[in-house]
This record gives sequence, C-alpha cells and structure tokens, in this order.
Amino acid sequence: MRLVLGQDKQGGWRCLEDLCPHRLAPLSEGRIHESGELQCTYHGWRFNEQGGCTSIPQIGDAKAHNTACSSGRACVSAFPTQVLQGMLWVFADSSPEGWAEATAADGTPALPAAASPELRHSPAASAGLGDQEPLVPARRASQL
Ligand code: FES
Repeated sequence: MRLVLGQDKQGGWRCLEDLCPHRLAPLSEGRIHESGELQCTYHGWRFNEQGGCTSIPQIGDAKAHNTACSSGRACVSAFPTQVLQGMLWVFADSSPEGWAEATAADGTPALPAAASPELRHSPAASAGLGDQEPLVPARRASQL
C-alpha cells in the first residue's frame, strides 16, 4: 500500500492512503488546499485528516454533495502518526479500533513497535541500518 504524508498548519503529521477513491489517482500528486486539506490534482476532491471527503467540486446541489461526501466510497483510509525520537511513525491500522488504540491514554499514539524492548535495544537501532535487521519488523513493513 502506498501512503501520502503531509503536515498540517500546526506541524502535525497526517497520513492517508495514496489513492483517490474517485478514479484511483495518486493523492501524492495533489496539493494542500488553503483549508489545510489534501486536494486531488485530477478533479479536485478534498479530504480531511481523517480521510473524509469534504468537497466534490462537480456536484453543485448541496444535498447531493453532502450525500456523496458522506458515502464511505468517497473516503480514503487515514492512519495515525507519531514523531518519536526524531522519526515519523505510522500506525499501520486505519480501523476505528486502530485509531482508538493508537490514541489511547493521554492522546499520544502508542505505537507498539516503538515501545518494543527489542526495537529499543536492537543492533540496528544503535549501529545504523547498513545490512542490519530492519527497525520495523518485516510483518509491519509489509502492511505499509
Ligand atoms: S481522481 Fe481524484 S478527484 Fe478524480
């Protein structure tokens, strides 16, 4: 799965699947709208940080526009993020349960890989990547 990352006006990182639900164009070719939302470059659909569709410029009727935007088919998957020790982490679960787990407790996403004792003390973490073990276990990397 390809992801698109961006920062909001407050510097918070946002992560969406790099796939517009309209015609499957890469959202990474889009731009940040003045509203702070990600706008697809092809037909101008816009998405908020939760992946919800907020604008479909081709639909002028307000009721039809709201119906279309509220459809799950118009949404894109969004993933929780966290900056930890100078690295950007993406929690590889866009489900409501994943968001709940990632934002539990004090509101700071609790990324299992970052909290793992094996990761904190792995040779790769202290000696650089080189041909060492990857920082992110292969199982998690393949989910990204
Ligand atoms: S392909 Fe993204 S808005 Fe049409």
